[in-house]
Amino acid sequence: MMKLKYISLNDRLYRYLSACRTHADDPVLDALRRETEAMGDISRMQISREQGSFMTLLVAAVGAKSAIEVGTFTGYSSICIARGLPAQGRLLCIDASAEWTAIARRYWIRAGVQNKIELRLGAAIPLLKNLERRAVFHFAFIDAAKEEYGAYYELILPRLRRNGVILFDNMLWGGRLGTGRIRQAGGRAIDELNRKLARDKRVESVLLPIADGLQLCRKL
Ligand SMILES: C[S@@+](CC[C@H](N)C(=O)[O-])C[C@H]1O[C@@H](n2cnc3c(N)ncnc32)[C@H](O)[C@@H]1O
Repeated sequence: MMKLKYISLNDRLYRYLSACRTHADDPVLDALRRETEAMGDISRMQISREQGSFMTLLVAAVGAKSAIEVGTFTGYSSICIARGLPAQGRLLCIDASAEWTAIARRYWIRAGVQNKIELRLGAAIPLLKNLERRAVFHFAFIDAAKEEYGAYYELILPRLRRNGVILFDNMLWGGRLGTGRIRQAGGRAIDELNRKLARDKRVESVLLPIADGLQLCRKL
């Protein structure tokens, strides 16, 4: 039988790993977290701190100059991506909410990344279908409507350069996968996409147990 090799996190270990990062204290991101948390339950949509650090590092490590994000909310992940880009790098953000992204815009200025970011407001699928013909991305982060992840993937993959990376958030769906029948449409969509990515000859992929699960795909 396969030996299972993993450890379960608890609050103590989680605090430890969250503290053991470069720039663990970040005044801009910490202020954004506080402001988003004050919005109540909805703040659960924000990515985790260590996920943000991972994304900054990954964007820089792959040498990305052009990135796209689907699902910006109040801006935490977009700041982390933008920070990994070089000075001339560009991040295209897509989100349906003018209200939430107004907060993101304020924090882009505080983080000094506003010149790297363009925001397009509206439903993601039509916006992705209408991207400029020549648009090419080196890095993509998907964190909007779970039922639409498969469509985002098919629209973004042709525009990804070879060796470009796509990161999907919430791919462990709150730990509810692997149990057989999944009732919620979002969970079913994520399960189907996880299985599809494992077989998809266009990419190599690995599902990482960071936060709520990150699917990391490299275009072949
Ligand atoms: C989970 S939050 C994104 C969190 C963000 N990445 C962060 O770090 O804070 C999801 C976002 O996707 C947006 N969204 C959901 N469905 C969408 C759709 N179909 N088209 C465009 N944006 C959508 C929501 O407005 C929301 O801001």
